[in-house]
Amino acid sequence: MPSQKLLKDLRALLEPFDHLHLLQEVASLEIEEIKQLHHQLKDYSGDLLFRQRQALSVKRETQDLRPWLDVSIPLPSEKGEAAIFDGKVASVILAGGQGTRLGWSGPKALYPIFPEQNITLLQILLQKVGHVSRGKAKAPPVAVMTSPLNHQAIAKYVAHEDGCGLKQEQLILFPQKMLPLLDEQGNWFLEKPGQICMGPNGNGGVFNLLMTLGIFEKWKKAGIEYVTVVPIENPLAEPFDLKQIDLLVKAKADVVAKCIERIQPDEKVGVFAKQEGRLHVVEYSEMAEQEKCALDADGRLVWPYANIGQFAFSMDFIERMATVPLPWHIARKTANAWGKGEISAIKCETFLFDVLPYAKNPKLLLYPREISHAPLKNQSGDKSPEMVRAQYMHYHKSMINSPS
Ligand code: UD1
Repeated sequence: MPSQKLLKDLRALLEPFDHLHLLQEVASLEIEEIKQLHHQLKDYSGDLLFRQRQALSVKRETQDLRPWLDVSIPLPSEKGEAAIFDGKVASVILAGGQGTRLGWSGPKALYPIFPEQNITLLQILLQKVGHVSRGKAKAPPVAVMTSPLNHQAIAKYVAHEDGCGLKQEQLILFPQKMLPLLDEQGNWFLEKPGQICMGPNGNGGVFNLLMTLGIFEKWKKAGIEYVTVVPIENPLAEPFDLKQIDLLVKAKADVVAKCIERIQPDEKVGVFAKQEGRLHVVEYSEMAEQEKCALDADGRLVWPYANIGQFAFSMDFIERMATVPLPWHIARKTANAWGKGEISAIKCETFLFDVLPYAKNPKLLLYPREISHAPLKNQSGDKSPEMVRAQYMHYHKSMINSPS
């Protein structure tokens, strides 16, 4: 039996959240489980649930947004190369995601995209960093954002693979934060005895974590001026894209975002948009069907440019943005509720691309899709392992055969 004191403390924690119904479920828990719940609740600020519920009713207004049409073409770089050579560029790999949609129970980062050679998505990106590091006195640093769900597995893999060829001091792994999920009634729920169901809180917390974990300061002291961000699932992503960094340096921009041309209205990509000169992304999940399919007089998609999640930022911009709160986006997913089985749950996430409207002089760099965008998303069909492999191999063959 849990002690009266423990139950009283728990009641005091649950009351401000209007979650006394959890006390009934708690009655059958072991003392250690109640302590665990107590510990978890203590981390939440009093208004968290209130803010999550509020986010459910926010309607995202997109009617004043217009398509962003001003894009640059990647050009041979001098400044990009110099910036990397002088040790001014670092990279962050976003690897908080799991491989659930791929039928893979581990971290997406560790998906063996080339199973015969046992080559994972993470290995491909880290090897690219290793390649860029060769011959440089200052090896460019890389931080991999994991999540509490996959951090251990990724750390173990990296240790086992000897840093995938990177120097120990070059590579940092840090886990992102999690947030409680809500049920359809807008309440938190237990996923197992003593544990409120949580999920990763989106990729938008990355700047704040760089700052609060001291990574920003460390990089600044080391002379870093620019930071790129790339997603783990795309083996064609370039952690150190010379042309992207070149434009960032030359244009003195806060951000250079890579983009591709949209070809299909139903592709799950956010589109670049403009409002009063500011750069935005409208996410595919929040875009009206009519807008996704809209065509201009020449039969081209009205929203022409897709976000591929590959950004280069100035350190000054990261510093300015690290404490700016980003809005929550709402996603629905199934989750396991203790004693109830699978339920429909609501996830609140922040997205990194919501920093873009704050950027001065933002630039978009338009890339051919076949050399920049091969994200692994599905078990079969489009964006499946088979397709990603084929696209990756095709790109590499064309590189080998191209005249240098
Ligand atoms: C993302 C973009 C979308 C873009 C598309 C291109 C976001 C929110 N959306 O959509 O605009 O057109 O890629 O393929 O970025 N991640 C974390 N932690 C999290 C959630 C995600 O690290 O909590 C990472 C993932 O591992 C992945 C990246 O962020 O590397 C993108 O997240 P994902 O949820 O896969 O976004 P998409 O739906 O593919």
